[in-house]
Amino acid sequence: MNTIRSIGIIGCGLMGTGIAESCARASLDVRVIARRETSAVAGKERLLRSLDHALRKARITQLERDQIVEHVAFTTDLTAITDCQLIFEAVSEHEPTKHNVFAAVDKIAANPGVIIASNTSSIPIVRLAKATSRADQVVGTHFFNPPQVLPLVELVGSELTAASTYEQAEAFLTGTLGKQVIKAPDRAGFVVNALLIPYLLSAIKMVESGFASAEVIDTGMVLGCSYPLGPLRLADLIGLDTLAAVANTLHQELKEPQYEPPPLLLQMVEAGLFGKKNGRGFHSYT
Ligand SMILES: NC(=O)c1ccc[n+]([C@@H]2O[C@H](COP(=O)([O-])OP(=O)(O)OC[C@H]3O[C@@H](n4cnc5c(N)ncnc54)[C@H](O)[C@@H]3O)[C@@H](O)[C@H]2O)c1
Repeated sequence: MNTIRSIGIIGCGLMGTGIAESCARASLDVRVIARRETSAVAGKERLLRSLDHALRKARITQLERDQIVEHVAFTTDLTAITDCQLIFEAVSEHEPTKHNVFAAVDKIAANPGVIIASNTSSIPIVRLAKATSRADQVVGTHFFNPPQVLPLVELVGSELTAASTYEQAEAFLTGTLGKQVIKAPDRAGFVVNALLIPYLLSAIKMVESGFASAEVIDTGMVLGCSYPLGPLRLADLIGLDTLAAVANTLHQELKEPQYEPPPLLLQMVEAGLFGKKNGRGFHSYT
């Protein structure tokens, strides 16, 4: 039986908030750690928007919505997660930042059996595990956006992950959260992003070269290939800043040109066009 009931989540952007919603929907006690007070407020608003959307679509009742909200606490105080049984790291895709978070969590996590999980899209888990004194208790849990909706989690054990940690994490994800798990290798990009990122970058290169517009490419892939989203709309949904960071890691790790972020992507990030999360990317969201 899975006995994990208390969840800590570091980072309350798109993914941290969505993972919090998934866990709260399973009636778990969830504490979300934001870097700043303003992020905590924004994270709570994102959670409420998502739940109100689900309520409008009659996917949850008003009572369930209120109960889910009650299960999640947002704070900037890292010590709120000291006694948690499972801690998800979901901060920005920047390796030094994640190292610092793993080291800080390692210092304060007091539950001897705690599992520490990273939602990284591209950084090998072993490198994050080594920032702690308990690498055997670290796994990668790569959720997909939005995590409260999409069923897949890539579960990644590093060379140092204990078999019991992996099994417990798998039982939690499938049994408690009702997710579908695939076992992914501890290699930059795991399985899905190793395939997906070159496709998204190819679409960006097509826009960059003037070969086709974002509208034309997206319409082609949605209507011609039955993809739910075209690649430019998907890039906007992921966040262009996150996509550029992921592509950079993959390119540095794997040294293959297909992962090199195109100049247009880097310029858009430089200009602060991050996609749907702040209103403008390849498409507009106002
Ligand atoms: N966006 C996606 O589609 C997607 C999908 C799967 C995995 N991921 C991964 O999930 C992670 C988070 O991505 P996101 O899309 O939520 O990004 P995001 O930009 O929406 O949120 C990242 C959050 O981390 C916060 N943060 C940064 N440093 C922090 C710290 N030291 N302590 C607490 N919070 C901190 C930022 O303030 C921000 O709110 C990344 O590793 C990303 O690669 C993203």
